[in-house]
Amino acid sequence: MIYPKIAGTGSSLPEHVVTNAELSRRVDTTDAWIRERTGIRRRHIVDESESTCDLAERAARNALDSAGIDAGALDLIVVGTTTPDRIYPSTACRLQARLGAGECPAFDVQAVCTGFIYALGVAEKFFRAGSVRRALVVGADTHSRLLDWSDRRTCVLFGDGAGAVVLEASDAPGVMSTHLHADGRYEPLLYVKGGTPRGAGRISDGGAYTKMQGNEVFKVAVRTLRRIVDETLAANDMTKSDVDWLIPHQANIRIIEATARKLGMPMDRVIVTVEDQGNTSAASVPLALDAAVRDGRVQPGQVLLLEAFGGGFTWGSALVRY
Ligand code: UT7
Repeated sequence: MIYPKIAGTGSSLPEHVVTNAELSRRVDTTDAWIRERTGIRRRHIVDESESTCDLAERAARNALDSAGIDAGALDLIVVGTTTPDRIYPSTACRLQARLGAGECPAFDVQAVCTGFIYALGVAEKFFRAGSVRRALVVGADTHSRLLDWSDRRTCVLFGDGAGAVVLEASDAPGVMSTHLHADGRYEPLLYVKGGTPRGAGRISDGGAYTKMQGNEVFKVAVRTLRRIVDETLAANDMTKSDVDWLIPHQANIRIIEATARKLGMPMDRVIVTVEDQGNTSAASVPLALDAAVRDGRVQPGQVLLLEAFGGGFTWGSALVRY
């Protein structure tokens, strides 16, 4: 059996930081409300000149450096993003050109906050089929560009960033399994209007901002993530106690705590970045993974449970032996 093994991780955050106090001067909110309901204190936001591909490139170079692999050796690039620089070419194709990664297949996967897990799941299938030996998988988003900065229900929640992993074929696990799901019937609870113009000369459908019924999304997220924990452990014939680290999507500390409770895990076995980064959409899981690898919490041989939930609705998980 061929497994994709994580050979390197990387991340990138915009320099500009926006605190809760700054947001409370723009909309009717308070630092206390944001912290209590979400766990967020600050988030990184791109400036006018920065793009999703800029963040993706920095994270990718970090990951390639830590893996000691040259971009020219990559067989596959998959980028999870909902905020591509352009409708086309894909962010992955732009990234491939910037990295000088030859002619390997490169494409984006759009699954909003589950984008990285989806991208990892797709890459995993290429490894299993024996068609690639080295892949770059990125989660990158500039979700701040999809926000109505006068809507307090959404503008306090998101941040920008990118995270990346380099995968290498190995006989030993590796990414042991990935689990991907979607239910498009939930669109009314979380969406961004706009997109490809329907009529000649029209640039957008108008109102291209995140619209969310937060408390309804919250309930489904908690329920769904609890279910996927069971599915992931059962598929690998493992129990809760086999998992060393939970590396969850960082939307809300209360959702993270609910999943940790389901796993019976103390919070010191959970990687949490939401406080300083907010919800960075597809970037949040690989950003958390990279932080924990770099500060030495995650050690070789340990079992990691990665999970995410987002617009679509989409949700997914990966069980990884690091
Ligand atoms: O990652 C993709 C998936 N997204 C998520 O997972 C997000 C899931 N949802 C959440 O994280 C939470 O539902 C939120 C953080 C978005 C909201 O927290 P909540 O505890 O569910 O609050 P709520 O939506 O029920 O709103 C409670 C009150 C409302 O006021 P009324 O109607 O009770 O008077 C809101 O208008 O809080 C008000 N509110 C705010 N107040 C101060 C909403 N946003 C704010 C705000 N500051 N920023």
